[in-house]
Amino acid sequence: MANSTGVLLVFHFLQYCLMNPVISSWKYPALIAHRGAGKHAPENTLAAMREGAKCGYTMFEYDVKLSKDGVAILLHDDTLDRTSTGTGLAGEHTLAELMELDFGSWHSPAFIAEPILTLNGVARFTISNNIHSNIEIKPTTGREAETGAHIARLAAKLWQEATLPPLLSSFSTIALKAARLAAPEMPRAWLIDNELPTDWLTVAADLNCSSINLNNKYASADTVRAITAEGYAVCVWTANEPDRIRELLQWGCHSVITDAIHAVPPDFAQ
Ligand code: G3P
Ligand code: MG
Repeated sequence: MANSTGVLLVFHFLQYCLMNPVISSWKYPALIAHRGAGKHAPENTLAAMREGAKCGYTMFEYDVKLSKDGVAILLHDDTLDRTSTGTGLAGEHTLAELMELDFGSWHSPAFIAEPILTLNGVARFTISNNIHSNIEIKPTTGREAETGAHIARLAAKLWQEATLPPLLSSFSTIALKAARLAAPEMPRAWLIDNELPTDWLTVAADLNCSSINLNNKYASADTVRAITAEGYAVCVWTANEPDRIRELLQWGCHSVITDAIHAVPPDFAQ
């Protein structure tokens, strides 16, 4: 009796996977390091990527926008003030100007003179170290479509030989639509900052995304169930407590983005 129940469960699971090609083809790791190394090194720099890699993480999330001269650079905020020695909008500076700034001293003296990182640079580092990427398209306000299209096209080119394509995510549906048009083959994730909106299924279908990325504050067992039942993967950011991460994975989240790369080993999920 117990055996036949087991067989039935396996059968239903396989049927579920076949009906949900996105879920069954989700190959990204269960844990992803936020901004490269969480808070342990200056976010979105090569120093952060090295720290994340040292901790054994095999996938990084990082934020990408465009410089004035259209170079894809890693930076979270629209402005330079918080995480560099510069001021004002990053998008109003050329790469050459940004290269003059220090993106590490705001964090701690160990990182003084850390330079800005480009998408080309992070692609070289991650691909050669067998690390997967979640590129968050973080456009400077007003440059959403241009940024989405440019990053998607560039990522498709830079990662063409990689074992797994980067996951392109964004809060901006304008950027994601432009990314879809520019490089339809690249997997996309829609970042939702609040409760799941009532029209989420329509938007997700329009974006043709693989994953819905939820704010940890609003992720619940019901939400995860509702999303996966529709065939989408679910990622949650930023969860830092081991018990919470375990709970999210038990609910069926496919990946969790975390700052806690020292406290939570990358094989924690197994
Ligand atoms: O991609 C998940 C997360 O990074 C989104 O929020 O503000 O940390 O970029 P934020
Ligand atoms: Mg981000």
